[in-house]
Amino acid sequence: MIALIFTFILLASDQQCFGIMSAMDVELNMIKENMVVEQIDTVAQRIFYIGTLEEIPCVCVKAGIGKVNAALTASILAMKYDVDAVIFAGVAGAINPKLSIGDIVISHSVVHHDYAYLGPECLTPYDTSGFRADSFLIGVAMQAAQDAEFDEVPQKICKETGHSPQVVLGKVITGDQFIASEEKRQWLEQTFHADCVEMEGAAMAQVCYINNVEFVIIRCLGDLANENADVDFEEFVKYAAKNSSLIVTQMMVLLKE
Ligand code: ADE
Repeated sequence: MIALIFTFILLASDQQCFGIMSAMDVELNMIKENMVVEQIDTVAQRIFYIGTLEEIPCVCVKAGIGKVNAALTASILAMKYDVDAVIFAGVAGAINPKLSIGDIVISHSVVHHDYAYLGPECLTPYDTSGFRADSFLIGVAMQAAQDAEFDEVPQKICKETGHSPQVVLGKVITGDQFIASEEKRQWLEQTFHADCVEMEGAAMAQVCYINNVEFVIIRCLGDLANENADVDFEEFVKYAAKNSSLIVTQMMVLLKE
């Protein structure tokens, strides 16, 4: 009963309610730890934490890896919890060769890279422009990334000490594949002019678009989508996940002001 009343108050208040999604526990744990959780629901085998982050109403959930998991979870956030916007936070592989492990991409747009026509000699994407993120949320995320106090980039990546990650506004691409091939990375770079690759963003964004919900994606790079991607991912996922979490929490601080 108390849980029901709380949900009603949350939904009835005119304050915006944010869905916060990640694919894996490591990406979501820090955000969850900072939340004041008022209610926990299990829907379609995923656990929704309902409450506030820095006093801003939010529903926080681990979607699981891949596009189907992301689409299903975003649908529940939109249709059951009636969120006004979704923030997707997590790690990604770098596609833009100017970016390094540890750097951060805030999405201006996101595209499905595996939604394509496969002929005998070519793979032709059906769409290369994708879904546009909300400009207000982009601004808040960029400011939050400037304000956030990141740990210095690990010395394995950057020899100089005290080096902070680079933050760019960029294009995210999504597919149901973990990319660990330099040849494929180059194809993705040339075809989409993308900055990073992950496995959920475009599916979440498509569901948001259908439901009239705004979104933004925050991805910190954990690998270079090349033959060493698995090893790099294992080594840097915690560092990268922490940085994207810090941005989400700082976004809420800014939204509260
Ligand atoms: N997420 C993190 N690294 C990735 C990669 N190389 N490919 C797809 N998704 C990723």
